Amino acid sequence: MSSILTAPSSTVTLIDLYKNVRQRTMEIVAPLEIEDYVIQTAEFMSPPRWHIGHTSWFFETVLQAHKPGYQVYSEDFLFYFNSYYEGFGARIDRPKRGTKSRPTVKATVAYRHHVDEQMLSFLESIGDPTIESLIRLGLEHEMQHQELLVYDIKHLLCDQFEVTLKPKPQPVARVEGMAEIEGGLIWLGHRQPGDTETGRLGATELLVPNTNRQFAFDNEKPEHQILVHDFALDRAPVSNGDYLAFIQDGGYKNFRWWFSEGWETLNREHWLAPLYWEIHDGQWLIRDFGGLRPVAERLNEPVCQVSFFEASAYAKWIGKRLPTEGEWEKAACYNSKAEKQLFPWGNTAPTVDHANFFENGLWSVAPIGAYPAGVNEYGCHQLIGDVWEWTTSDYVPYPGFKSEFDEYNDKWFVNQKVLRGGSFATPQVHIRSTYRNFFHAHERWMTSGFRCAQDL
Ligand SMILES: [Fe+2]
Repeated sequence: MSSILTAPSSTVTLIDLYKNVRQRTMEIVAPLEIEDYVIQTAEFMSPPRWHIGHTSWFFETVLQAHKPGYQVYSEDFLFYFNSYYEGFGARIDRPKRGTKSRPTVKATVAYRHHVDEQMLSFLESIGDPTIESLIRLGLEHEMQHQELLVYDIKHLLCDQFEVTLKPKPQPVARVEGMAEIEGGLIWLGHRQPGDTETGRLGATELLVPNTNRQFAFDNEKPEHQILVHDFALDRAPVSNGDYLAFIQDGGYKNFRWWFSEGWETLNREHWLAPLYWEIHDGQWLIRDFGGLRPVAERLNEPVCQVSFFEASAYAKWIGKRLPTEGEWEKAACYNSKAEKQLFPWGNTAPTVDHANFFENGLWSVAPIGAYPAGVNEYGCHQLIGDVWEWTTSDYVPYPGFKSEFDEYNDKWFVNQKVLRGGSFATPQVHIRSTYRNFFHAHERWMTSGFRCAQDL
C-alpha cells in the first residue's frame, strides 16, 4: 500500500483530491480486524466504523441539498452517522456509538461506496464555486477525521495495531535555548488570496500553487492586526527528557504548579504522567504504535499526549509560560524582516523534509532536530508537525468572524484552548500555520505537546 504515503500536495482538481482523501481513510483502517471497527474504548473516542460512515454522511448532506432528485440512502444511517449537528436532526448520543453492532461494517462500506459513486458523478457536473467549496470543506472534514482515526486506533489497539512504521530520522542539529523574537503589530489569521492587493504592510507575495493556501476554515478568518510584545520562545518543543525531570521532581504531587481545575482532574483521574506512559519497576516507559519503550531511549523526542493542565504545570515549574496563539503565529509565519510567510521556512508547501506529518509514515513523533529544513529564521524547530502545541489562548472567534457552515466551528467558541501546528497524524495538505485546532483543557488523547515562552 504505497499510496498512503503519497502527499496530495500536487493535486490540482477537486476530483483528484476527493479520490485521494476518500481512499486514504480506507487505507488507514485497512489493518483492522472486523471486531476492531465497532468497539468504543472511551467516551471521547469513536469506533472506526463510525468514522468511515460519518465522513460519508457529511457528503450525503451535500447530495441531499444540491443533487437534484437524490434519494436518502437510509434514515437509520442518518441517525447513526450524524455527529453533533442539531440542524441535521436526531442522532445517537456520542458515548453510545460503540453500543450498536448495526449498521455492520459491511453495510457501512457499501454506504460509503454508494456516496462515492453519487459524489463522483455529481463532481463531473457541478461548476458552482459555492458547492465546490462545500465539497472542499467535506474533504478537510474527512482529513480531520483521518487524524482522529489515528488517535482512536491508538486508544483502541496501540502497539497491537499492525501497521508498517517507517524508521525515524536522526537528529542532525542540537536544539537548545530560546529564540528572542521582536514584537509589534502583526497580522493574525489567514490571508485570503487577493488580500495582498490591499497593500497591507506592503505584503509579501503569498500566492503559491499549493492546496494548503487555497482553503482555510472560517475560524482562521478574517486576518486582523494584533499587538505582540517582545518575547522569547523555546527553540524546541518540550521533550520527554525535559518532562521526565518535572515528574521526577514530584511535579504530579505538588499542587503549586497546577491550576485548581487541573489539580482536581489529576486527582480524580489519578494522573502520574502523560497518557500512554507506564511505570514498570520504577522505570517510565511509553507505549505507542511502535511498542513499549523506555522513556530513557526517547528523551530527545517531543513529549505528547499531555493536557493543557499538564503543559501549564510544567511551564510554571520551569519558570516560563505557554505562548499565546499570536506569539506562536508570529514565530511560525514571520521572518526576521517582519514579512509574513506561509510557513516557518518560507512560502513553499510542506514536504517530508520540512516536518513530520502523516505522509512521513512514522506514526510517532520524531527526534528534536530531525527536520533542519523546517526551521524558522529564529532557529525554532518543529513548529509545524510532530505535536499540536498548546497555547494559552481561548478558542474564540476573531474580530469580524463570519460563520461559513452552521455548527461546524461556530458553536465551539467557549471553554476550549487553541493548539497550533499539526502533528504526525495530520495529512500534509491539511495543515496551515494559521490553523486553529481546539480542545478542552483536560483532554489528552490527541497528539498534543507544547513549547514554552517567556517575557523579555
Ligand atoms: Fe465530523
